[in-house]
Amino acid sequence: MEMRPISRKMDALLAAHMRLLEFFMWFDPHSSREGIADFVAGNPQEMPLPEYVAAIKRWSEPKRKDWFAYQMNVPEAQRAVIASLAERRGVAFAEEDIALTTGAFAGLEIAMRAVCDEGDEVIYLTPPWFFYDGIAQGLGLVPVKVRVDMKTFDIDVAAIERAITSRTRAIIVNSPNNPTGKAYPRATLDRLAALLEAASERNGRAIYLLSDEAYYRILYDGRRYESPTESYPRSILIYTYGKQLLTPGERIGFLALAPTMPAGERRQLRNAITMAQLVGGWSWPNAVLQYALADIDRLSVDIGKLERKRDRMIQGLREAGYELHVPEGTFYLLPKSPWPDDWAFTKHLAESDVFVLPGEVVDLPGYFRISITASDAMIDKALPVFAAAAKERVPA
Ligand SMILES: Cc1ncc(COP(=O)(O)O)c(C=O)c1O
Repeated sequence: MEMRPISRKMDALLAAHMRLLEFFMWFDPHSSREGIADFVAGNPQEMPLPEYVAAIKRWSEPKRKDWFAYQMNVPEAQRAVIASLAERRGVAFAEEDIALTTGAFAGLEIAMRAVCDEGDEVIYLTPPWFFYDGIAQGLGLVPVKVRVDMKTFDIDVAAIERAITSRTRAIIVNSPNNPTGKAYPRATLDRLAALLEAASERNGRAIYLLSDEAYYRILYDGRRYESPTESYPRSILIYTYGKQLLTPGERIGFLALAPTMPAGERRQLRNAITMAQLVGGWSWPNAVLQYALADIDRLSVDIGKLERKRDRMIQGLREAGYELHVPEGTFYLLPKSPWPDDWAFTKHLAESDVFVLPGEVVDLPGYFRISITASDAMIDKALPVFAAAAKERVPA
C-alpha cells in the first residue's frame, strides 16, 4: 500500500525543519559520550546548583491534602514573579497578569495562540532561535522572517516596516538575542514601538510584541537590561528559568502582560491566555516547581564565571585566527566558519570530539555557534582543536 502522510501538517513541519532534525539526529549518539567537548546548546555540563536541589526537595514534601491537585497559576508563584520583576527592573506588574508556563517554549506558543487567528502573520528576526517558525506554523500562522542588520546585529526597523501587512498580528523580539548575543538598545526599541503603534492604527488591529526575554538575567559587562515591554504597551513578556538555573529539563517560566497595556485589553488577554493554556493541554508547570519559585527565582548560575569563559574563548579563538564579535549577553559565541560549508567544518571538529552548532541550522550559513555552558575542562580540550582546524586547508 502506498504510504500516505499520517498528518500532512506534521509532514510539512518535518520537511521545513529537516536540517535541524538531521543535526540533532547526527549529534545524539555522541552527546552522552564521556570526554567530548560539548558546545552545542545551553545544556548543563556540570552538577546542578545545590540550592536548587534543596528547594525541589523541600517543596516536594506535601503540606496539605491538595498539594498535588490540579493547579493553574499558583498565587505564591505569581507573587514571586512580580516581586522579582519589581526588584530587578523597578516595574510593577499586576499579580493577575502573570501566567505560569512550562518555559518559554510553551510561553511563545500560548502567546501566539492567545493573540492570533489562523492565517495571521507573525514576524520574527533572523538569525533566530530555531523554533519560532515551527511554533507559528504548528498553529496555522504565517511566519515572516526579517533579517537583522548584519553589521551591528541590531534590529533593522526599516526592514520590519516593509514586512508589515494588514495581516500582521505579532512580532517576536528576543533580547539579548540567541544566537547573536545582541541586547537591543532603548533607542532602537523606541523606534520599533513607534512603528508598531502607527501600523496598528493604520490596520485598525493591534500588533502585539512578544518579548522573548529568556536570557535577560544573562548579561555581561555590568549592562542594564532594556526590556521591549517598557517601550511598547501591547507587549507580552515571555520568560523561562531554564537559562538562569541551567535546568532546561525542569519546565517553568511565565508570561507577563505589560502594565502599560490598556486595562480592558489586559482583562481580555488574561482570559484568552487561560483558554490557550487549557486547549494547549494544561500547559501550566508542575505544582512543585510553582511552590518552589520564590526560592529558585533568587538563584542563578555564576554570571561572572560565564563572562570569564566568554572572554577566554574569544581571546583563544581570535588568537587562532577566527573572526567573532563580543556578545553582550546569552550563552553564545558566533565565530565565522573558516570553511564556507559550516556543516562540513562542524563534522571536521567532531572528529576531534569537539561539538558545535552549524550556522546553517539557525539561518546563518558560514558561521558556527558555540555555547559557553561548556565546562573549563571542555574549553581546555577544545581550544587547541579549534586552533589546529583554523590552520587546515579548506577542502576543495
Ligand atoms: C531565545 C530562546 N527562546 C526560547 C527558548 C526556549 O526555552 P525553554 O526551553 O527553557 O522553554 C530558548 C531555548 O534555547 C531560547 O534560546
